[in-house]
Amino acid sequence: MKALVYEGPGRKTWTEVPDPVITDPQDVIIQVDTVTICGTDLHILGGDVPEVKPGRILGHEAVGTVTETGGAVTELAVGDRVLASCISACGRCPYCRRGRYGQCLRGGGWILGHLVNGVQAQYARLPFADLSAHRLPQEIGDEAAVMLADILPTSYEVGVLAGQVKPGDTVVIVGAGPIGLAAVLTARLYSPAHVVVIDPARARLRAAEQFGADVTLTPDEDPLAKVRSLTGGLGADVVIEAVGLPETFELCTTLVRPCGHVANVGVHGRPATLHLEELWIRDVTVTTGLVDTFSTPDLLAMLGRGQLDVAPMVTHRFALDDIEHAYEVFADPAHSGALKVVLSRT
Ligand SMILES: NC(=O)c1ccc[n+]([C@@H]2O[C@H](COP(=O)([O-])OP(=O)(O)OC[C@H]3O[C@@H](n4cnc5c(N)ncnc54)[C@H](O)[C@@H]3O)[C@@H](O)[C@H]2O)c1
Ligand SMILES: [Zn+2]
Ligand SMILES: [Zn+2]
Repeated sequence: MKALVYEGPGRKTWTEVPDPVITDPQDVIIQVDTVTICGTDLHILGGDVPEVKPGRILGHEAVGTVTETGGAVTELAVGDRVLASCISACGRCPYCRRGRYGQCLRGGGWILGHLVNGVQAQYARLPFADLSAHRLPQEIGDEAAVMLADILPTSYEVGVLAGQVKPGDTVVIVGAGPIGLAAVLTARLYSPAHVVVIDPARARLRAAEQFGADVTLTPDEDPLAKVRSLTGGLGADVVIEAVGLPETFELCTTLVRPCGHVANVGVHGRPATLHLEELWIRDVTVTTGLVDTFSTPDLLAMLGRGQLDVAPMVTHRFALDDIEHAYEVFADPAHSGALKVVLSRT
């Protein structure tokens, strides 16, 4: 088969590799029908994730069709159309038993395209398949489903649920990439009073408006004054960090009101300052998190009922064979306007 192979920082190729085989009775093999690229894949290519070794097939967000099942698989059968989640779960370790699959201790967690071969390929092996893949109903198309492999559960769990968004809240989202936009979409489920989005890229602010943000501004447009004016001087109830820079995290802690929540979603490569000298008296809750994907069944149900419209997230479509070009487009959103790019089997 062909697959997108990481060859060390800055290098990748779409090349011939051996087909995946079942190595554990809980595995299934899928033929990949639809797959997408994540900002995390760009971090890997940038050399920021050294656990990813050269030779690794990238990708952790796909929809595919089961072609083979291991002997212990009971929930899936050959021919099933499934969503491959970015998080795998052994289901048995202390964290999995609490639904905290991201922290799995026995070989699960974020492994696809990281510690084991991923899904940017014609075929892929999915470990712990009964617990880590979701059979898809007919009414949910591949493109919509693949948005639920990572970005929707991430923004919902680590942003909206961890931040405890409630009806009537003023929610500020810093960063309007796919993660920030998915936070806009899932925050709206709670009928907030305002969804404020901050991003320097005007095109992304327009996308945020399309997803339901009612106030958008750049970091230079005095976010603190704007948020205060919207909230009678109090500050935001919930601030979601969806960038991953020290300055954006620190901005979040200035925008939150006393007793409010800062939910950090961004992946940070450098230390950020927690200004406890100002925050200690403000009863602020700061949360961090890796997605667990415990919410995927609920999100799939909402998608099936038409309660979530993820379609505007997909801006570009390619054939799977054209994945190297798709990476270029995805990596240059300032020129391409890309949010999510989707690749499909032809
Ligand atoms: N916690 C998790 O489980 C998890 C999972 C997936 C992704 N992530 C992380 O979430 C973050 C966002 O992901 P993405 O795919 O949307 O990334 P992205 O790079 O597409 O989007 C980031 C956005 O931040 C904006 N930005 C840059 N500087 C800014 C500033 N000073 N103020 C406001 N906005 C600014 C950019 O213009 C861009 O639109 C990344 O750090 C990613 O690694 C976390
Ligand atoms: Zn991802
Ligand atoms: Zn586990």
